[in-house]
Amino acid sequence: MSPLLRTLAYLLLPPLALAANLAELKLRGPSGLPASASHELHPALSSFSIETAFLITYLGNVSAPNRLTLDLLDNLHERTGVPAEIRIGGITADSTYWNGSQTQAAFNFIDDKGVLHNTTIGPAFFKAMSLLPKRTKITMNLNLDDLDYEGALEVARATWTGLGPDRVVAFELGNEPDHYSRPVQTPKSYANIWKTWSRNITQALKLPKPLFQIAATAEDPLWPYDAPGAQDQLGCVSALAAGANEFGTANYCSEHTYQYSVCDPPRQAIATLPNLVNHTRLAMFLDLWQPRIRSVRAQLGPHSYLNGEYSSVSCSGRNNVSNTFGQALWLLDTTLYSASLNISRLYIHQGGPLALQSSTQLNRGGLSFYNLWYPIDNLNGNVTVFPSYSAYLFLTEAIGKSKTLKLANIYPGRQANLSSITTEMGDTSAGQLVAYGFWDTALKQKGPTKLALINMEIYNKTQADAGVKRPRTVFDISAYLPQNAAVGSGREIPPPVVTVKRLQAPGADIKDGGLTTWAGQSFLMGKGKGELVTETFQGGRIPVRASEAVLVFL
Ligand SMILES: *[C@@H]1O[C@H](CO)[C@@H](O)[C@H](O)[C@H]1NC(C)=O
Ligand SMILES: *[C@@H]1O[C@H](CO)[C@@H](O)[C@H](O)[C@H]1NC(C)=O
Ligand SMILES: *[C@@H]1O[C@H](CO)[C@@H](O)[C@H](O)[C@H]1NC(C)=O
Ligand SMILES: *[C@@H]1O[C@H](CO)[C@@H](O)[C@H](O)[C@H]1NC(C)=O
Ligand SMILES: *[C@@H]1O[C@H](CO)[C@@H](O)[C@H](O)[C@H]1NC(C)=O
Ligand SMILES: *[C@@H]1O[C@H](CO)[C@@H](O)[C@H](O)[C@H]1NC(C)=O
Ligand SMILES: *[C@@H]1O[C@H](CO)[C@@H](O)[C@H](O)[C@H]1NC(C)=O
Ligand SMILES: *[C@@H]1O[C@H](CO)[C@@H](O)[C@H](O)[C@H]1NC(C)=O
Ligand SMILES: *[C@@H]1O[C@H](CO)[C@@H](O)[C@H](O)[C@H]1NC(C)=O
Ligand SMILES: *[C@@H]1O[C@H](CO)[C@@H](O)[C@H](O)[C@H]1NC(C)=O
Repeated sequence: MSPLLRTLAYLLLPPLALAANLAELKLRGPSGLPASASHELHPALSSFSIETAFLITYLGNVSAPNRLTLDLLDNLHERTGVPAEIRIGGITADSTYWNGSQTQAAFNFIDDKGVLHNTTIGPAFFKAMSLLPKRTKITMNLNLDDLDYEGALEVARATWTGLGPDRVVAFELGNEPDHYSRPVQTPKSYANIWKTWSRNITQALKLPKPLFQIAATAEDPLWPYDAPGAQDQLGCVSALAAGANEFGTANYCSEHTYQYSVCDPPRQAIATLPNLVNHTRLAMFLDLWQPRIRSVRAQLGPHSYLNGEYSSVSCSGRNNVSNTFGQALWLLDTTLYSASLNISRLYIHQGGPLALQSSTQLNRGGLSFYNLWYPIDNLNGNVTVFPSYSAYLFLTEAIGKSKTLKLANIYPGRQANLSSITTEMGDTSAGQLVAYGFWDTALKQKGPTKLALINMEIYNKTQADAGVKRPRTVFDISAYLPQNAAVGSGREIPPPVVTVKRLQAPGADIKDGGLTTWAGQSFLMGKGKGELVTETFQGGRIPVRASEAVLVFL
C-alpha cells in the first residue's frame, strides 16, 4: 500500500445525518449468489476499439511512443493482471491497405478538403504493437467493403506475421456491413461471403480454427424480438442462421451499440447529458440485445458475445455530453449492466470524426468527443485525459485479479425477468440508484466480495456554483456484510468494517480529468496523482452523493 494512503474512518454514520434529510436505500439481500448472476467475468471486460486510421495516433511508434496512452493502459493492466484488449477497426478498416515497403507505420490519405480517403499500413504498424502491455490481445478488422479478397488476405497475413498466434484473438471481416451500399447486406449474401473468406483465409495462413469474429453490425435490434422484419436484420443471430459458420470459423460474434447520435438533427435533439446519465434509459437500451446474447452464447459458447465497438453518441460524440463526468457514470453503469446480461467484453471506441460519415453530422475534424483521452493536440482539444477514463479504473479494480467473479444487478426494486426471451425492458422501477454485487465462486465467502453502488442522479457543477446543495443517498448494505463467525456466541462483537473507494467529480457536467478523482487520485497526466484515499465504514451505511459511485470491498 502507498505510504501516502490516507484512510478516512467513518465509524457508525452519526444519527445527525438522518436529520439532514438524507435519502436512504436498503438493499434487501439475501447475500448469497443470486440466480440471475452472470457468467464468470472476463478479466478484459473493459477493453478498447481504436479506429484503424488513428491507432498510431494513439500508440505512437517504436521510435516515438505515446507515453500517455501507454501509462493509461498500464494502469488498467496493473489492476487486473490481464491487459485490456484492443480491437483495431471501425469505418476506416474498410479502406485500409497493406504496403510492405512503406516505412511509415500508417499513412492516411487526406485530401485538400480534409476528407480521409484511405489508410495504408506497413510493417512498422505491427512493430508499434510491441509497445502495448505484454500479451495484449488484438482483434484485427479486415476490409470487406471493397469485396477484394486478395487485399483482405494481405492485411490478414501481415497481421498474423507481425503479431503471431499469442496476440491475435480474432479477425473481423468488415465493419458495420449492415450499413454497406453493396449487396452484402442481407444475412444470406453476407453469410455466403463471410463463410468463404473466413475459410479461405484460415487455410491460406494455416490459422487455428476458429479465429473469426462475425457481424460487427451497427443497427439496433428491431423490437419486439419477433416484430416483422426483425429476423431479416443483419446481425449475429441472422448471420449464423444463414449458415455463416458452416465451416466452423466463427469464435466470437460482435455487435456495436451507440445509444445516442449526432449524425442527424432529430437524434441530436435527444443526445443530452440528462438522457445520458439515466440508468433506466441505458438498461432499456441494452435489454434490446438480450435475446441475441442468449442465442449466440448457446451457439458459440459462454464468452462468445461481445460489444466490439461502442460509445454513447455516434458520429464522434458531443461536446459537453460525451466528454463529461456524466459519460464516466454512463460508461461504468453500461459496462456493469452489459456484464449482467453476459456480454463477455466491451470495446469502447476511440477515433475521430470522419468527413462525409453523414451529410448532416455535427462534428468535423480532430478527435472524437467521446474518446477517453487525447494522445495528441488536435482540433477538438489538447492532450488530456477525460473524466470517463476513471470509470475504467473503477471497473478494473472491481474485477481485480480474480478469474472466478460473477456479477449480478442487485437493485432492490423489481428486476427484469432475465430468463424470459420477451423480457421486460430495463429496471423500470429502478430510478437512478444502482447496485451491483460481485461474488467470487472460488472463495468460501457466501456473500459478495465487492459491491458497486452508483448514484446516477444528475448534479452539475453549475448547480454547486448557484448554491444548490448536492443531494446524497445512504445505501444500507448491512444485508450483504460478511457474517461474523462469532455471531450467536453470546459475546458482544462489533459489526464488520468495510473499505470504500470513491469515483468523484464536482459535477456530471465537468470535462476536466484533473477534477475527476478515483480514490482521491486524478489521472490527468497518465499516472495517479495525489494521495490515495480509502474510507472505512462500520455498520454498512454508505453515503453516495448525486453523480457519484463507490466500490465497496467486503
Ligand atoms: C448469464 O449466464 C449465467 C451462467 O451461464 C446464467 O445462469 C444466466 O442466466 C445468464 N444471464 C442471462 C441474462 O442470460
Ligand atoms: C508503398 O510504399 C512505398 C514507400 O513509401 C511507395 O514508394 C509506394 O508507392 C507504395 N506503394 C503503393 C502501391 O502505394
Ligand atoms: C514515428 O513517429 C514520429 C513522430 O510522429 C515520426 O516522425 C516518424 O516518422 C514515425 N516513424 C514511423 C516509422 O512511422
Ligand atoms: C487512396 O485514395 C487516393 C485518392 O482517392 C488514391 O489515389 C489512392 O490510390 C488510394 N490508395 C489506395 C491504396 O487505394
Ligand atoms: C475460396 O476457395 C475456394 C476453393 O479453393 C475457391 O473456389 C474460391 O474461389 C475462393 N474464394 C475466394 C474469394 O478466394
Ligand atoms: C430516465 O429515463 C426514463 C425513461 O425515459 C424516464 O422515465 C425518467 O424520468 C428519466 N429519469 C430522470 C431522472 O430523468
Ligand atoms: C459547452 O459548455 C460550455 C460551458 O457551459 C459553453 O460555454 C459552451 O458553449 C458549450 N459548448 C457546446 C458546443 O455546447
Ligand atoms: C492548445 O494549446 C495551445 C497552446 O497552449 C492553445 O493556444 C490552444 O488554444 C489549445 N487548443 C485547444 C483546442 O484547447
Ligand atoms: C421468467 O420467464 C421465464 C420464461 O418465460 C418463466 O418461465 C419464469 O417463470 C419467469 N420468472 C419470473 C420470476 O417471472
Ligand atoms: C446539468 O447540465 C446540463 C447541461 O450541461 C443540463 O442539460 C441539465 O439540465 C443540468 N441538470 C441540472 C439538474 O441542472
